[in-house]
Amino acid sequence: MKILVTGGLGFIGSHTVVELQNQGFEVIIIDDCSNSTEKVLDGIVAITGKLPLFEKLDLKNRDKVEDFFKKHDDIEGVIHFAASKAVGESVEKPLLYYENNIGTLVYILKELSQKAKSSFIFSSSCTVYGQADVMPITEDAPVKTAESPYGNTKQMGEEIISDTCKVTPSLNAIALRYFNPMGAHPSVEIGELPTGVPQNLVPFITQTGVGMREQLSVFGDDYPTSDGTAVRDYIYVVDLAKAHVIALKRLLENKNDSNYEVFNVGTGTGSSVLEVIKSFEKVSGKKLNYKIMNRRAGDITSAYADTTKANNVLGWKSEYTLDQAMKSAWDWEQKIRK
Ligand code: WQD
Repeated sequence: MKILVTGGLGFIGSHTVVELQNQGFEVIIIDDCSNSTEKVLDGIVAITGKLPLFEKLDLKNRDKVEDFFKKHDDIEGVIHFAASKAVGESVEKPLLYYENNIGTLVYILKELSQKAKSSFIFSSSCTVYGQADVMPITEDAPVKTAESPYGNTKQMGEEIISDTCKVTPSLNAIALRYFNPMGAHPSVEIGELPTGVPQNLVPFITQTGVGMREQLSVFGDDYPTSDGTAVRDYIYVVDLAKAHVIALKRLLENKNDSNYEVFNVGTGTGSSVLEVIKSFEKVSGKKLNYKIMNRRAGDITSAYADTTKANNVLGWKSEYTLDQAMKSAWDWEQKIRK
């Protein structure tokens, strides 16, 4: 069964390609390599022993997308990761984000709508909840006004898919709302490759640990949380990748309850920034140089998932603890800096 993975050379995409291949799917990757490299293919081969098909293609090129789907008319499912994901950059360049994240989604849905049956998994985000009023966050929590164009593309993306599914019974879709992905494959053949200064907490910690950065800034210790630092739900990337395969199979095997469904993908446990630092210090045996700074603009106090729906309906549960995920992130950081 042939599955298209857009953005399949990226962080979550590459881990998902590995899980798909491990389960016998034939994978074709589209990636424009704007935030990834073809070398990721070597890592995928090292783990799975199989080279996925790969087409370097810019999904903004409508004609190329049409040609691609004509050429590969046997694609049965699409997992769509390809998107821009830097919150700050999206504020500076909103049109780039709307074109990259919305334009390309529309092109793919147009192609899929013409098929007799299609299965589509969308990378959504817990960012759609903003600062939720109740913790842990269920899928029924209201979607709040987005803080950034990036966040808005995830909300709009969900609406576009939902609207399309309403009038397209042949299209079956699941939006997965990720909490905070982290870590690397246990083989350390693939992992996160942030370009420039990492904006996310975990790669900033591991780069500081390995000596690339002098100091981690902890953004705020005056939040109304147990230790004053902000709380998030850190989900191991391989657990997250597995959720995609389970969601895809649900659609391919016609087990879905409706043709558009939404699931949270998190661990259900909130961890503060200081707890994440402690986890790093524990697994690395190193003291981390950090300093408490002002809050970062746009940050929320707390977000962690109610995973009941994913557990009961998808039959998926995260397996790795924060320490295990952190160990993989640290192993990966040390390997790539060698
Ligand atoms: C985590 C915590 C920071 C860096 C992520 C994605 C975003 C969206 C939502 C994807 C926060 C603190 C961070 C640092 C710090 N997801 N921090 N020092 O903000 O939850 O956003 O989830 O769709 O794209 O990035 O994740 O890793 O940036 O921050 O103190 O140098 O760590 O303030 O409390 P965040 P993050």
